Amino acid sequence: MSIREILRMGDERLLRVAEPVPTSLFASEALRALIADLRDTMAAASGAGIAAPQIGVNLRVVIFGGTGPNPRYPDAPGIPFTVLCNPVLEPLSDARQAGWEGCLSVPGLRGEVPRFTHLRYGGQDADGAAFERTVEGFHARVVQHECDHLDGILYPRRIEDLTNFGFTDVLFPALVA
Ligand code: NI
Repeated sequence: MSIREILRMGDERLLRVAEPVPTSLFASEALRALIADLRDTMAAASGAGIAAPQIGVNLRVVIFGGTGPNPRYPDAPGIPFTVLCNPVLEPLSDARQAGWEGCLSVPGLRGEVPRFTHLRYGGQDADGAAFERTVEGFHARVVQHECDHLDGILYPRRIEDLTNFGFTDVLFPALVA
């Protein structure tokens, strides 16, 4: 399909609460095309995930994983490619862990963000079939980051200690921005 422009922080479209995917859109060519564009755009930018609002589509759709070794997150474990529509997140404990995050809408920067370590999430796939997973660690972090986009939240708002926010090439010279 096509690589789309990724909106950057400051664009007010990133601050909207996205609309649920309507039943009529599941299994449609339009939703398949959106997901293909998200996948192409994520791959081109070496993202760990991407949310529809990041390409200006105000729907509750995120995709993540499936990229194999990722130059932006070389130490991250593999996550299966996942299409998640209308997600529901449920932390399984109060435990949170700080970890470094980046975002395709905040290029060149990384910040340390606390996220719930154990998470159950559910939603629908591209055909509207419901599914649910229990995950932890980096997988749980990615889901929380991507789903925040659906509520208009970019990760810098989650940083608790702003001394742990900076340019990727200064913080981690070996990493790709
Ligand atoms: Ni992001």
